[in-house]
Amino acid sequence: MSLKDRLTRRQNGGVPATPDVPVPTPADVRAPVAPRGPGAAVTSGMYGRHIEEEVLSAVDRVKIDLHRKLVERLDLEALEQIKDERIINAEIRAVVTELLREESTPLTLADRENIVEQVLYEITGLGPLEPLFRDLTISDILVNGSKEIFIERHGKLSRVSAAFRNDAHVLAVIDRIVSRIGRRVDESSPMVDARLPDGSRVNAIIPPLALDGPVLSIRRFGADLSMAKLIENGTLTDEMAQMLAACVAARLNILISGGTGAGKTTLLNAMTSFIPSDQRIITIEDAAELRLQQEHVVRLETRPPNAEGQGEVKAADLVKNALRMRPDRIIVGEVRAAEALDMLQAMNTGHEGSLSTIHANSPRDALSRLETMILMAGSNLPDRAMREQIASALDLIIQISRLADGSRRIVSVVEITGMEGQVTATQEIYHFRRQGIASDGKVIGVFEATGIRPAFSERLAVAGVELPTSMFAESYAR
Ligand SMILES: Nc1ncnc2c1ncn2[C@@H]1O[C@H](COP(=O)(O)OP(=O)(O)OP(=O)(O)O)[C@@H](O)[C@H]1O
Ligand SMILES: [Mg+2]
Repeated sequence: MSLKDRLTRRQNGGVPATPDVPVPTPADVRAPVAPRGPGAAVTSGMYGRHIEEEVLSAVDRVKIDLHRKLVERLDLEALEQIKDERIINAEIRAVVTELLREESTPLTLADRENIVEQVLYEITGLGPLEPLFRDLTISDILVNGSKEIFIERHGKLSRVSAAFRNDAHVLAVIDRIVSRIGRRVDESSPMVDARLPDGSRVNAIIPPLALDGPVLSIRRFGADLSMAKLIENGTLTDEMAQMLAACVAARLNILISGGTGAGKTTLLNAMTSFIPSDQRIITIEDAAELRLQQEHVVRLETRPPNAEGQGEVKAADLVKNALRMRPDRIIVGEVRAAEALDMLQAMNTGHEGSLSTIHANSPRDALSRLETMILMAGSNLPDRAMREQIASALDLIIQISRLADGSRRIVSVVEITGMEGQVTATQEIYHFRRQGIASDGKVIGVFEATGIRPAFSERLAVAGVELPTSMFAESYAR
């Protein structure tokens, strides 16, 4: 059987009945574009873009029609048997080009190429998300049901005109993403975390939990946001980075705090570059996002319970296990719950140099959240003992924020110095002072040193890192 016959078998009568079960399968992708309700002025055509009927040119109309025919005619099941993506791409390209040649409407070379690309997107990739994915300036892709897709670019959210054909189409794409890592999403497990081969983090939540159709939230594995880039884009100053490098080298225990999407994971990732390459690093994450450059890294990932509610492995279990793996450093992607206690205990028992992030609005808030997490872990430590444990374990809290103009800044670097009576004592070393908003909406401000020489300077010196006193001189600003 020739390739074309193989891939276009369905055209000759072998059309399998459309399954009437609501379970999404990649087969949904081949469903032809459903006509919208009577009187609809817009069609969700091609790659689902909303196109005003009356403004369609003849070529556009042919393109939509062709695309539909192609998607109907290609035998996706046969295609799925081919595992090598490059071969699939080449084969689809060949068949589509051939089918296009039979088309009588004149199409320019660019039109043809365009259609071939779109069919490829539709069949092998993430459907209407695929072009968004290729745009490296996009950091988040958010799908709210089939018709709304938002993107975040340079810290700003905006809606794009792309859309899916229907909820089944969104489900098919979700299914394609999560099945790759052996997870599934259906009514019995309607929430799932996954990650794409490039490291991007994906969360999907579908009806009945999501009321208006399947919701997909993709946090792109961002472009290279190394420490050098963060300095360049003004997240922090060179001097602050030098201090952080010294703190990591000297094995301080550091917590990065910030709101959703503030850049905690990105900063954590950048800071891991300061860990000497001869150390054994164990990372613990819910969905592995960190990209460590070191050679000796062991990556662990938590596991959600299965449909029967069995088999869950929590971050706390992994922290306990990591302690038996001779770690030099334990990095917990984000502390959310009981693992906070295990982390602090590890920090207090000789596993210094740990790094983690926490969702909190200020360093103080981070401290009180830690307390709450420890309480939730079922510990019955009295308040003071709990605070002492936190104070002796943690050395530094870095607060990162997404400002109104979408830029990220380290707004505060706070040292934990111990206890003063009942409270945890802290002192701020650097902060970002906002001064106003420019006419183009950009936030104006400066990084300032508070003039306090950190108490951990001596520890840095012992570790062989001497930082010039001038770095902490008051109002040192840039
Ligand atoms: N310093 C930065 N400068 C510019 N963009 C950044 C910076 N930090 C993060 N970003 C971008 O912002 C997005 C969110 O970053 P990141 O995942 O690090 O945030 P987060 O605080 O860990 O979010 P979450 O709360 O969802 O875990 C990413 O797409 C990333 O590329
Ligand atoms: Mg994060």
